[in-house]
Amino acid sequence: MYKIIDLDIKGDERGSLIALEDNSNIPFKIKRVYYIFDTKKGVKRGLHAHRRLKQFLICVSGSCKILLDNGYRQENIYLNTPTKGILLDSLIWREMYDFSRDCVLVVLANEYYDKDDYINDYQSFLKEIKTNE
Ligand code: TYD
Repeated sequence: MYKIIDLDIKGDERGSLIALEDNSNIPFKIKRVYYIFDTKKGVKRGLHAHRRLKQFLICVSGSCKILLDNGYRQENIYLNTPTKGILLDSLIWREMYDFSRDCVLVVLANEYYDKDDYINDYQSFLKEIKTNE
């Protein structure tokens, strides 16, 4: 359903740096990057699945939680480090919540923004899972 990827830290006496590269530590060609920040208290984001899109999420500052659901089981993951990324395949329902005030969630994607790739209704998501089997 997802994979946690440890990112290699290029650290020296000045501090730390992490590089993200296509087809190296990011296992797809990156076409789009966006980031979610300044999220208001109590807000839930996501609440959708993607039909084809693959994504890689890194919480580069602060923390948040993400609920992942593949139609059969659910998992909650706490994202609180810039040194780990979560690789999400298509057809995973996701809900992000409990954002800290300083949370910056960076998302890399293998396709451009396409609103037709979204499944915004949970029951429709479950139906699409079944038809994809
Ligand atoms: P949305 O997909 O609702 O965010 P999330 O599901 O992660 O909470 O996106 C919020 C708004 O931003 C919506 O108007 C669509 C727009 N948007 C873009 O224009 N490009 C993008 O790459 C993304 C992810 C969103």
